Amino acid sequence: MDRRTFTLAALGATALGSMRLSSASASEVAKRAIPSTGEQIPIIGLGTNRYGVDESDEARAPLRESLQRFRAWGGGMIDTAPMYRTSESVLGDLIAEIDMRNTVFLATKVDKNSPESARTQMLSSHEKLKSEAVDLMQIHNLRGWQTSLPLLNEWKESGRARYTGISTSRSSQYEELEMILTNHNLDFVQLNYSLEQRESAERLMPLAADRGIGVIINRAFGGGRLFRAVATQKIPEWAKEFGCESWAQFLLKYALSHPAATVAIPGMTKARHVDDNFAAATTRMPTPAERKLQEAFFDDL
Ligand SMILES: NC(=O)c1ccc[n+]([C@@H]2O[C@H](COP(=O)([O-])OP(=O)(O)OC[C@H]3O[C@@H](n4cnc5c(N)ncnc54)[C@H](OP(=O)(O)O)[C@@H]3O)[C@@H](O)[C@H]2O)c1
Repeated sequence: MDRRTFTLAALGATALGSMRLSSASASEVAKRAIPSTGEQIPIIGLGTNRYGVDESDEARAPLRESLQRFRAWGGGMIDTAPMYRTSESVLGDLIAEIDMRNTVFLATKVDKNSPESARTQMLSSHEKLKSEAVDLMQIHNLRGWQTSLPLLNEWKESGRARYTGISTSRSSQYEELEMILTNHNLDFVQLNYSLEQRESAERLMPLAADRGIGVIINRAFGGGRLFRAVATQKIPEWAKEFGCESWAQFLLKYALSHPAATVAIPGMTKARHVDDNFAAATTRMPTPAERKLQEAFFDDL
């Protein structure tokens, strides 16, 4: 049976007790085109800044289970970085163990100022991830971008990285990022965007759309903080009309319904969160009018 038509019910999702999850299948997960090539990618990816654990089975078991669920939903982008402690090694080990490399779009980062240390760090990432090539190499928080950008292009040319990108999660870097996106060729920009933090939608996301740059959204939950803001609230009835069954889905659908968005990479160390978040990609996105309702609702909290 083709993995895309393999229902999650058959993979044990019914045990989670959710009617929605038991009937959803990986084939229902929405995909979008990477602007520079047209390659289709699932709109939910995985952020792994909390995957930097030790080698104990106790620490790795929930991450293994989350990755297994991620594969069951069809896989997609996994974002990591040398800065996330042992995250790259943990992913390299678990991806090999689960044998899921061919369902994963591996994105990592470089954060060095000199070309030599950047090259050494990128080679080390390949080794830890047990991959001869990564799908995406990004410059982390703009650090050393002047020296790393030519290196990234060189690696793309030689097939060691299929795509190039740059990331931030700080509005203090937006002005410089805007200048970089305007003047240089990149396949992706990764930035923070959420109901709480909408500034990146003002100039950066429209610019990315104009320049044919894919947008990866980080921190759609504000690092988890946004769940506390809605903790005492009920999901509004109008949000159920576009399929929201949880606050995570409400928040993800807001971020992903921006016209420039390509993929969101929520941090998930629990399998039930993987199921919840992928389910958001199996129902429709809010319309522009519904997005306004979401903003007004959030602003009133
Ligand atoms: N400059 C950069 O390049 C940069 C900066 C920041 C982040 N990032 C990337 O973006 C990713 C996302 O950022 P983030 O992890 O800091 O923040 P986030 O995605 O906004 O929030 C992650 C938090 O939300 C929780 N969560 C996930 N799904 C949930 C659900 N369905 N229900 C309830 N809680 C849920 C997670 O819990 P569990 O862990 O318990 O599942 C975790 O505590 C990072 O992992 C990293 O890959 C990049």
